[in-house]
Amino acid sequence: MCGIFGCIINDGDVAPLIHAALKRLEYRGYDSVGEATINEAKVHVKKDSGKIDAVHAILNLDDLKGRVGIGHTRWATHGAPYRVNAHPHVDCKEEVAVVHNGIIENFAELKIELENLGHVFISKTDTEVIPHLIEEKIKQGLSLVEATHEAVNQLEGSYAIAVIYAKEPDKIVCARKESPLVVGVSENGVYCSSDIPAFLPLTNKAVMIENGELVVLSGKGYEIRRLADWNIVPREPETIDWSPEMAEKQGYPHFMLKEIYEQPLTLRNTLRLQDQYLELMTEFLDRAGEVFLVAAGTSYHACLAASYMFSKLSFLATHPIIASEFVEQHGRSVNIDSTILFVSQSGETADTLAALEHARLRAATILGLTNAVGSTLTRLARVYVCQQSGPEIGVAATKTFTSQLSVLAQLALRLAKKRGKVSHIEIESLEKKLQQIPDIAEEILKTHGDKMKQLAEKYYDRQFFFYLGRGISSATAFEGRLKLMEISYAPAIAYPAGESKHGPISLIEPGFPVVFICPKDETHKTIVSNIMEMKARGASIILIMEEGDEELKKLADDAIEIPKDIPEILSPILCVIPLQLFAYYMALKRGHDPDQPRNLAKCVTVK
Ligand code: AGP
Repeated sequence: MCGIFGCIINDGDVAPLIHAALKRLEYRGYDSVGEATINEAKVHVKKDSGKIDAVHAILNLDDLKGRVGIGHTRWATHGAPYRVNAHPHVDCKEEVAVVHNGIIENFAELKIELENLGHVFISKTDTEVIPHLIEEKIKQGLSLVEATHEAVNQLEGSYAIAVIYAKEPDKIVCARKESPLVVGVSENGVYCSSDIPAFLPLTNKAVMIENGELVVLSGKGYEIRRLADWNIVPREPETIDWSPEMAEKQGYPHFMLKEIYEQPLTLRNTLRLQDQYLELMTEFLDRAGEVFLVAAGTSYHACLAASYMFSKLSFLATHPIIASEFVEQHGRSVNIDSTILFVSQSGETADTLAALEHARLRAATILGLTNAVGSTLTRLARVYVCQQSGPEIGVAATKTFTSQLSVLAQLALRLAKKRGKVSHIEIESLEKKLQQIPDIAEEILKTHGDKMKQLAEKYYDRQFFFYLGRGISSATAFEGRLKLMEISYAPAIAYPAGESKHGPISLIEPGFPVVFICPKDETHKTIVSNIMEMKARGASIILIMEEGDEELKKLADDAIEIPKDIPEILSPILCVIPLQLFAYYMALKRGHDPDQPRNLAKCVTVK
């Protein structure tokens, strides 16, 4: 998730406006920045890796001439955050410049085709194919608008792009497929951006660009065309009554809630990851002597869930280990035959990197799953997979957790296929279901917001909570508990439900809230008796359960239903969403800021 911006103004130079707009988009990505303007029929580019203020201090992003320009703030997905991979990207003649937010899935094939036509590529990005594709069309005599139309019709994946061309210095051409794009209009100019915050101080007149549309900005205003039939689409601007701060959250009151509702998009992104790295990682896992899954906090809960996925699907035994205990618990036994998958959304957590360093020194094979290309984890891992969740601003991990689960499930499925341990029918049905997960998540988000808010209103003053699950749902229980504790400060414990009678059940008294995560899977029979144990002692039973499960519904004081027929290994991705919402509304009800919980940091860089 990056931020793109473009503008054409009647008077003056656009560079200072682009710089200021990118600052307002910095929450979308902050590992490199760049801009390009047209002046005297030439394209002028300034870009570098680093945060906007740091790059500005060196390059002075305000100092570029020209009334037409585009800009970009990056969250690396393809190609580490080096200057060469920063946007804008240009064609061979440096006449066409492009900024892009999204993922071009077929960039590798397009790159080979273009290289065979003599184009020279300088970056590792997927985006760079776009200016070269447009250049190729212009060579065939097309105008910038026509060339962009033809070029985007060859792109697979998601994109919002803004394009300028030295030989047509009076326009910006933008197009959108999935990634967000909005146009702003004012007396003095016209703007395009990934988000409204970028131009809100300049105008509150916004035109939403729909999927599959191309828009041409010029001194005359804007013209929208549908890519499919090239028809002009008339659309009037809307008036936006948001404060800039609200706009950054796209109208949500907090980043955490915005990120919870982003999960359908981020889950779709995880289904578009580069095949070669997933395949390579599967290869290493298949050859491994022993496999450790090491992480901290929420990422550790993803590892815990993954240990069930790998065992159940690929018959691979893995050891999920809390990073800060790894060296003490396994430090001596780690060796050249050990393979360790480190999971960290930031890629910079000190406990996780310390465990990694210990394993590296003992020649173990280091694999990484992260959300931050260019992070220390990506630099030290033999192979890493970037989960494409975009920057997560809320301290409480939400969208990065479900993305981690989706990637780990894909690895387990690939390994199962490779090892032939599970029937093709089962693998195909799981792969089909995995493709449906983003839509099911969307459905849950549409239907559960108010329900979880009411639940928080009912339970916000309870002194203590239990979160219980069996099998893979015990990982969901741990994650649900962590979300509640870290932002609402309500004390809670989580453990595998079978453990209740070995101690914790002694705490139960009438009205004690117990959250059970109990989708219909192989543990269903046993968890019914665990629920009955708690109910018999007067506990308030909150169930995250499958729609229409009448047997469980009868036992619930509060039944939170998720759609039917979710395969066991995928259930944590969906069951955790109501728990994220519950924690969020509990924090609000108890008067706390969900985005900035006390005593916590988004990235824990101390051991
Ligand atoms: C989760 O909500 C917390 N922010 C925290 O537990 C976090 O998961 C942990 O610090 C690990 O972070 P990482 O994934 O960036 O390594």
